[in-house]
Amino acid sequence: MKVAPSLLSCNFAKMGEEVQKVDKAGADWIHLDVMDGHFVPNLTIGPAIVSAVRPYTKLPFDVHLMIDYPLDYIDSFADAGADIITFHIESKSDTAQTIEKIKSRGIKPGLVIKPKTPAEAVYEYLDKVYVILVMTVEPGFGGQSFMWDMLPKVTAIKEECAKRGLEVLVEVDGGISEKTAGAAAGAGVDVCVSGTGIFKSKDMPATISAIRKGI
Ligand code: DX5
Ligand code: ZN
Repeated sequence: MKVAPSLLSCNFAKMGEEVQKVDKAGADWIHLDVMDGHFVPNLTIGPAIVSAVRPYTKLPFDVHLMIDYPLDYIDSFADAGADIITFHIESKSDTAQTIEKIKSRGIKPGLVIKPKTPAEAVYEYLDKVYVILVMTVEPGFGGQSFMWDMLPKVTAIKEECAKRGLEVLVEVDGGISEKTAGAAAGAGVDVCVSGTGIFKSKDMPATISAIRKGI
């Protein structure tokens, strides 16, 4: 599996150094959580921060938009240096139009589903996206417990893609650590996001490597 440390749990005063640290420790992608205080109750980072940390690594920036109107902000995050932009199917922007807008900027699009949204909700978009992100906690905050009952959604999406000959990555986000990565791997996950699990770990390279192997 690929491992995408979530900067939500890093030291915000040292974000550039934190990015360099996880890059050196073996991260595959850098996950950046964007929250608007409406779609989720929390407020986090915007395009100015994404652009400020962009020079600190060459790793792909995986920007997770937890905002009501993602379509209105695609240009800003594209200009800031996003490589992958995922947005919620539950947001208020038109899904197909937002995917097209992301692609028009040369960025890989992804759709995210909250825990209460069924896997089937994304099926009509599977041929249009690079990644599906299955939330394994309610979006909004780091440090929550992994929702094991989300894993059947991962398997269902992977099976639907296989049936249709589509190669779409499935990513999980929330509560991932060495303790939960094994189950994620077993369900068919391709990319694990981990915030607390990595940034609060005493041995970052070992934790990243354990998550990657799903052990
Ligand atoms: C939550 C965010 C996550 C968060 C995960 O809404 O989307 O990316 O950082 O944090 P942990 O790994 O601590 O559950
Ligand atoms: Zn996230």
